[in-house]
Amino acid sequence: MTLSFEHLVSIEQLSRRDADILLKEAEQMEGILKKGGDDRLHGKILANLFYEPSTRTHLSFATAMYRLGGRVISTESVQFSSLYKGESIEDTIRVVGQYADIICMRHAEVGSAARGALVSPIPFINAGDGRGQHPTQALLDLVTIRKERSGIDGIHLAMVGDLKNGRTVHSLSLLLSLYTGVRLTLISPRELRMPAEICDALRERGVIFEEREKMEDALSADVLYMTRIQKERFSDEKEYQRLKGIYVLCARDLIKKNITVMHPLPRVGEISLDVDPLPNAAYFRQVRNGVTVRMALLAMMLGKA
Ligand code: NCD
Repeated sequence: MTLSFEHLVSIEQLSRRDADILLKEAEQMEGILKKGGDDRLHGKILANLFYEPSTRTHLSFATAMYRLGGRVISTESVQFSSLYKGESIEDTIRVVGQYADIICMRHAEVGSAARGALVSPIPFINAGDGRGQHPTQALLDLVTIRKERSGIDGIHLAMVGDLKNGRTVHSLSLLLSLYTGVRLTLISPRELRMPAEICDALRERGVIFEEREKMEDALSADVLYMTRIQKERFSDEKEYQRLKGIYVLCARDLIKKNITVMHPLPRVGEISLDVDPLPNAAYFRQVRNGVTVRMALLAMMLGKA
Protein backbone atom coordinates (compact mmCIF):
# COMPACT_ATOMS: atom_id res chain seq x y z
CA MET A 1 0.00 0.00 0.00
CA THR A 2 1.34 3.42 -0.91
CA LEU A 3 0.28 6.95 -0.08
CA SER A 4 -0.68 9.38 -2.82
CA PHE A 5 1.91 11.97 -1.75
CA GLU A 6 5.69 12.12 -1.48
CA HIS A 7 5.83 15.14 0.87
CA LEU A 8 3.23 15.99 3.51
CA VAL A 9 2.68 19.74 3.58
CA SER A 10 -1.05 20.23 3.95
CA ILE A 11 -3.92 17.99 4.98
CA GLU A 12 -5.72 18.83 1.73
CA GLN A 13 -3.27 16.49 -0.02
CA LEU A 14 -4.81 13.49 1.70
CA SER A 15 -7.47 11.37 0.05
CA ARG A 16 -9.88 9.32 2.09
CA ARG A 17 -7.84 6.28 1.02
CA ASP A 18 -4.64 7.86 2.42
CA ALA A 19 -6.38 8.55 5.72
CA ASP A 20 -7.74 5.00 5.92
CA ILE A 21 -4.33 3.48 5.13
CA LEU A 22 -2.63 5.61 7.77
CA LEU A 23 -5.25 4.78 10.41
CA LYS A 24 -4.80 1.08 9.71
CA GLU A 25 -1.02 1.30 9.74
CA ALA A 26 -1.10 3.30 13.00
CA GLU A 27 -3.24 0.58 14.55
CA GLN A 28 -0.64 -2.03 13.59
CA MET A 29 2.08 0.18 15.04
CA GLU A 30 0.30 -0.01 18.39
CA GLY A 31 1.09 -3.69 18.65
CA ILE A 32 4.67 -3.05 17.55
CA LEU A 33 5.09 -0.24 20.06
CA LYS A 34 3.77 -2.46 22.85
CA LYS A 35 6.61 -4.88 22.09
CA GLY A 36 9.12 -2.03 22.20
CA GLY A 37 9.35 -1.45 18.44
CA ASP A 38 11.13 -3.13 15.52
CA ASP A 39 14.07 -2.53 13.20
CA ARG A 40 12.52 -1.74 9.84
CA LEU A 41 14.08 1.74 9.60
CA HIS A 42 17.56 0.53 10.46
CA GLY A 43 20.10 2.68 8.63
CA LYS A 44 17.61 5.51 8.00
CA ILE A 45 18.06 9.02 9.37
CA LEU A 46 15.36 11.55 10.22
CA ALA A 47 16.34 15.23 10.28
CA ASN A 48 14.18 17.04 12.82
CA LEU A 49 14.34 20.76 12.04
CA PHE A 50 12.46 22.75 14.66
CA TYR A 51 12.63 26.53 14.31
CA GLU A 52 9.70 27.13 16.67
CA PRO A 53 9.17 25.74 20.20
CA SER A 54 7.99 22.14 20.48
CA THR A 55 7.94 19.34 23.01
CA ARG A 56 5.47 16.74 21.74
CA THR A 57 5.92 16.93 17.99
CA HIS A 58 9.71 17.01 18.15
CA LEU A 59 10.03 14.23 20.72
CA SER A 60 7.31 12.03 19.26
CA PHE A 61 8.88 12.11 15.79
CA ALA A 62 12.22 11.20 17.36
CA THR A 63 10.58 8.47 19.47
CA ALA A 64 8.79 7.07 16.41
CA MET A 65 12.07 6.94 14.45
CA TYR A 66 13.98 5.25 17.29
CA ARG A 67 11.15 2.75 17.89
CA LEU A 68 11.52 1.63 14.28
CA GLY A 69 15.29 1.30 14.52
CA GLY A 70 16.22 4.55 12.77
CA ARG A 71 18.32 7.49 13.95
CA VAL A 72 17.72 11.21 14.34
CA ILE A 73 19.71 14.37 13.72
CA SER A 74 18.19 17.65 14.81
CA THR A 75 18.37 21.39 15.13
CA GLU A 76 16.22 23.11 17.70
CA SER A 77 16.27 26.83 17.14
CA VAL A 78 16.79 29.48 14.50
CA GLN A 79 19.49 31.00 16.66
CA PHE A 80 21.75 27.95 16.48
CA SER A 81 21.19 27.28 12.79
CA SER A 82 22.30 28.82 9.52
CA LEU A 83 18.88 30.44 9.10
CA TYR A 84 20.16 32.89 11.70
CA LYS A 85 23.02 33.80 9.36
CA GLY A 86 20.53 34.48 6.61
CA GLU A 87 20.40 31.14 4.81
CA SER A 88 17.15 30.55 2.96
CA ILE A 89 14.79 27.71 3.90
CA GLU A 90 15.37 26.31 0.42
CA ASP A 91 19.14 26.10 0.86
CA THR A 92 18.83 24.59 4.33
CA ILE A 93 16.55 21.86 2.96
CA ARG A 94 18.85 21.20 -0.02
CA VAL A 95 21.74 20.77 2.41
CA VAL A 96 19.92 18.60 4.95
CA GLY A 97 18.66 16.51 2.04
CA GLN A 98 22.27 15.38 1.57
CA TYR A 99 22.52 14.10 5.16
CA ALA A 100 19.21 12.44 5.97
CA ASP A 101 16.54 10.18 4.44
CA ILE A 102 13.50 12.17 5.58
CA ILE A 103 12.96 15.71 6.91
CA CYS A 104 10.47 16.98 9.44
CA MET A 105 10.32 20.78 9.79
CA ARG A 106 8.52 23.29 12.00
CA HIS A 107 8.84 26.95 11.15
CA ALA A 108 7.03 30.15 12.16
CA GLU A 109 6.20 31.24 8.61
CA VAL A 110 3.00 30.17 6.85
CA GLY A 111 4.04 28.57 3.57
CA SER A 112 7.53 27.65 4.78
CA ALA A 113 6.70 23.95 4.52
CA ALA A 114 5.52 24.29 0.94
CA ARG A 115 8.77 26.09 0.08
CA GLY A 116 10.84 23.39 1.78
CA ALA A 117 8.98 20.52 0.14
CA LEU A 118 9.33 22.08 -3.29
CA VAL A 119 13.11 21.72 -3.25
CA SER A 120 13.50 18.74 -0.95
CA PRO A 121 15.41 15.83 -2.52
CA ILE A 122 13.98 13.49 0.16
CA PRO A 123 10.49 13.06 1.72
CA PHE A 124 9.48 16.14 3.71
CA ILE A 125 6.90 16.47 6.52
CA ASN A 126 5.34 19.72 7.77
CA ALA A 127 5.43 19.72 11.57
CA GLY A 128 3.65 23.09 11.76
CA ASP A 129 4.08 26.22 9.63
CA GLY A 130 3.11 29.23 11.71
CA ARG A 131 -0.65 29.69 11.83
CA GLY A 132 -0.96 27.54 8.69
CA GLN A 133 -1.27 23.78 9.10
CA HIS A 134 -0.19 20.90 11.31
CA PRO A 135 -1.14 17.77 9.35
CA THR A 136 0.46 15.15 11.61
CA GLN A 137 -1.38 16.54 14.63
CA ALA A 138 -4.63 16.19 12.66
CA LEU A 139 -3.79 12.56 11.93
CA LEU A 140 -3.17 11.74 15.56
CA ASP A 141 -6.37 13.58 16.47
CA LEU A 142 -8.22 11.41 13.96
CA VAL A 143 -6.78 8.23 15.48
CA THR A 144 -7.83 9.49 18.91
CA ILE A 145 -11.39 10.25 17.83
CA ARG A 146 -11.74 6.82 16.27
CA LYS A 147 -10.45 5.08 19.36
CA GLU A 148 -12.38 7.13 21.88
CA ARG A 149 -15.69 7.20 19.99
CA SER A 150 -15.32 3.98 17.97
CA GLY A 151 -15.90 5.73 14.64
CA ILE A 152 -15.58 9.01 12.79
CA ASP A 153 -18.55 9.15 10.40
CA GLY A 154 -21.39 11.16 11.87
CA ILE A 155 -19.31 12.66 14.66
CA HIS A 156 -20.21 16.05 16.15
CA LEU A 157 -17.03 17.86 17.16
CA ALA A 158 -16.79 21.26 18.81
CA MET A 159 -13.55 23.24 18.47
CA VAL A 160 -13.01 25.88 21.13
CA GLY A 161 -10.48 28.69 21.43
CA ASP A 162 -8.15 30.43 19.01
CA LEU A 163 -9.46 29.10 15.72
CA LYS A 164 -7.79 31.89 13.76
CA ASN A 165 -4.20 31.23 14.80
CA GLY A 166 -4.38 27.59 15.87
CA ARG A 167 -3.01 25.47 13.04
CA THR A 168 -4.23 22.18 14.52
CA VAL A 169 -7.89 23.11 14.06
CA HIS A 170 -7.28 24.16 10.46
CA SER A 171 -5.84 20.76 9.60
CA LEU A 172 -8.27 18.71 11.70
CA SER A 173 -11.43 20.33 10.33
CA LEU A 174 -10.26 19.70 6.75
CA LEU A 175 -9.27 16.13 7.55
CA LEU A 176 -12.69 15.43 9.08
CA SER A 177 -14.30 16.63 5.87
CA LEU A 178 -13.20 13.31 4.29
CA TYR A 179 -15.77 11.52 6.48
CA THR A 180 -19.53 11.48 6.10
CA GLY A 181 -22.02 13.28 8.28
CA VAL A 182 -19.41 15.15 10.31
CA ARG A 183 -20.77 18.23 12.10
CA LEU A 184 -18.57 20.98 13.52
CA THR A 185 -19.36 23.67 16.07
CA LEU A 186 -16.71 26.36 15.92
CA ILE A 187 -16.46 28.36 19.13
CA SER A 188 -14.24 31.39 19.41
CA PRO A 189 -14.36 35.07 20.23
CA ARG A 190 -15.22 37.17 17.20
CA GLU A 191 -11.58 38.25 16.82
CA LEU A 192 -10.31 34.66 16.64
CA ARG A 193 -12.75 33.03 14.24
CA MET A 194 -11.81 30.26 11.84
CA PRO A 195 -10.17 31.85 8.75
CA ALA A 196 -12.50 32.48 5.81
CA GLU A 197 -10.47 30.25 3.47
CA ILE A 198 -10.90 27.25 5.80
CA CYS A 199 -14.64 27.95 6.17
CA ASP A 200 -14.93 28.19 2.37
CA ALA A 201 -13.09 24.89 1.95
CA LEU A 202 -15.36 23.23 4.54
CA ARG A 203 -18.45 24.50 2.72
CA GLU A 204 -17.08 23.28 -0.59
CA ARG A 205 -16.45 19.86 0.94
CA GLY A 206 -20.02 19.73 2.27
CA VAL A 207 -19.23 19.90 6.00
CA ILE A 208 -22.05 21.20 8.17
CA PHE A 209 -20.71 23.75 10.64
CA GLU A 210 -21.89 26.60 12.81
CA GLU A 211 -19.92 29.41 14.43
CA ARG A 212 -20.66 30.36 18.04
CA GLU A 213 -19.04 32.35 20.85
CA LYS A 214 -20.10 30.64 24.08
CA MET A 215 -18.51 27.45 25.35
CA GLU A 216 -21.89 26.17 26.57
CA ASP A 217 -22.78 25.67 22.90
CA ALA A 218 -20.01 23.06 22.71
CA LEU A 219 -21.24 20.84 25.49
CA SER A 220 -23.75 18.85 23.43
CA ALA A 221 -21.03 17.64 21.03
CA ASP A 222 -19.46 14.15 21.06
CA VAL A 223 -15.95 15.58 21.14
CA LEU A 224 -14.79 18.82 22.67
CA TYR A 225 -11.49 19.94 21.12
CA MET A 226 -10.03 22.65 23.33
CA THR A 227 -7.15 24.86 22.14
CA ARG A 228 -5.01 27.54 23.73
CA ILE A 229 -5.06 31.19 22.73
CA GLN A 230 -1.86 31.41 20.63
CA LYS A 231 0.12 34.07 22.47
CA GLU A 232 3.02 34.10 20.01
CA ARG A 233 0.74 35.10 17.11
CA PHE A 234 -0.49 38.33 18.75
CA SER A 235 1.16 41.60 17.83
CA ASP A 236 -0.61 43.33 20.74
CA GLU A 237 0.15 41.85 24.18
CA LYS A 238 -2.86 43.69 25.70
CA GLU A 239 -5.18 42.00 23.22
CA TYR A 240 -3.75 38.62 24.24
CA GLN A 241 -4.23 39.43 27.95
CA ARG A 242 -7.85 40.39 27.25
CA LEU A 243 -8.65 37.13 25.46
CA LYS A 244 -6.47 34.52 27.15
CA GLY A 245 -8.83 33.37 29.91
CA ILE A 246 -11.98 33.48 27.81
CA TYR A 247 -12.68 29.72 27.86
CA VAL A 248 -11.97 27.52 30.87
CA LEU A 249 -13.37 24.00 30.99
CA CYS A 250 -13.99 22.65 34.51
CA ALA A 251 -15.10 19.23 35.77
CA ARG A 252 -18.52 20.59 36.76
CA ASP A 253 -19.20 21.39 33.07
CA LEU A 254 -18.82 17.70 32.23
CA ILE A 255 -20.55 15.85 35.02
CA LYS A 256 -22.68 13.09 33.53
CA LYS A 257 -21.84 14.10 29.98
CA ASN A 258 -20.69 11.53 27.44
CA ILE A 259 -18.26 13.94 25.82
CA THR A 260 -14.62 13.28 24.94
CA VAL A 261 -12.26 16.11 25.80
CA MET A 262 -9.23 16.54 23.54
CA HIS A 263 -6.47 19.16 23.39
CA PRO A 264 -3.34 19.20 21.20
CA LEU A 265 -1.44 20.56 24.22
CA PRO A 266 0.23 22.56 25.69
CA ARG A 267 -2.68 23.80 27.79
CA VAL A 268 -2.24 27.11 29.53
CA GLY A 269 -5.30 27.28 31.75
CA GLU A 270 -8.15 26.40 29.37
CA ILE A 271 -8.69 22.96 30.91
CA SER A 272 -8.85 22.96 34.68
CA LEU A 273 -6.81 20.27 36.47
CA ASP A 274 -9.98 18.81 37.98
CA VAL A 275 -10.91 17.48 34.50
CA ASP A 276 -7.80 15.25 34.38
CA PRO A 277 -9.14 12.33 36.49
CA LEU A 278 -12.44 12.13 34.56
CA PRO A 279 -12.83 9.35 31.99
CA ASN A 280 -13.75 12.08 29.49
CA ALA A 281 -10.21 13.48 29.53
CA ALA A 282 -8.53 12.00 26.45
CA TYR A 283 -5.70 14.49 26.00
CA PHE A 284 -2.91 12.37 27.48
CA ARG A 285 -4.08 9.28 25.60
CA GLN A 286 -4.09 11.54 22.52
CA VAL A 287 -0.36 12.17 23.05
CA ARG A 288 0.46 8.46 22.88
CA ASN A 289 -1.37 8.20 19.56
CA GLY A 290 1.14 10.76 18.27
CA VAL A 291 3.89 8.17 18.42
CA THR A 292 2.05 5.40 16.57
CA VAL A 293 0.73 7.68 13.84
CA ARG A 294 4.22 9.08 13.26
CA MET A 295 5.67 5.57 13.20
CA ALA A 296 3.10 4.76 10.51
CA LEU A 297 3.87 7.89 8.52
CA LEU A 298 7.65 7.47 8.66
CA ALA A 299 7.43 3.81 7.67
CA MET A 300 5.09 4.53 4.77
CA MET A 301 6.92 7.57 3.46
CA LEU A 302 10.18 5.61 3.55
CA GLY A 303 8.61 2.62 1.78
CA LYS A 304 9.00 0.31 4.76
CA ALA A 305 5.40 -0.28 5.80
C1 NCD B 1 0.24 22.55 18.82
C2 NCD B 1 1.02 23.34 17.81
O1 NCD B 1 2.25 23.40 17.87
O2 NCD B 1 0.37 23.88 16.92
N1 NCD B 1 1.08 21.79 19.65
C3 NCD B 1 1.40 20.52 19.27
O3 NCD B 1 2.05 20.33 18.26
N2 NCD B 1 0.91 19.52 19.99
C4 NCD B 1 -0.76 23.32 19.58
C5 NCD B 1 -0.33 24.59 20.25
O4 NCD B 1 0.85 24.93 20.28
O5 NCD B 1 -1.22 25.25 20.77
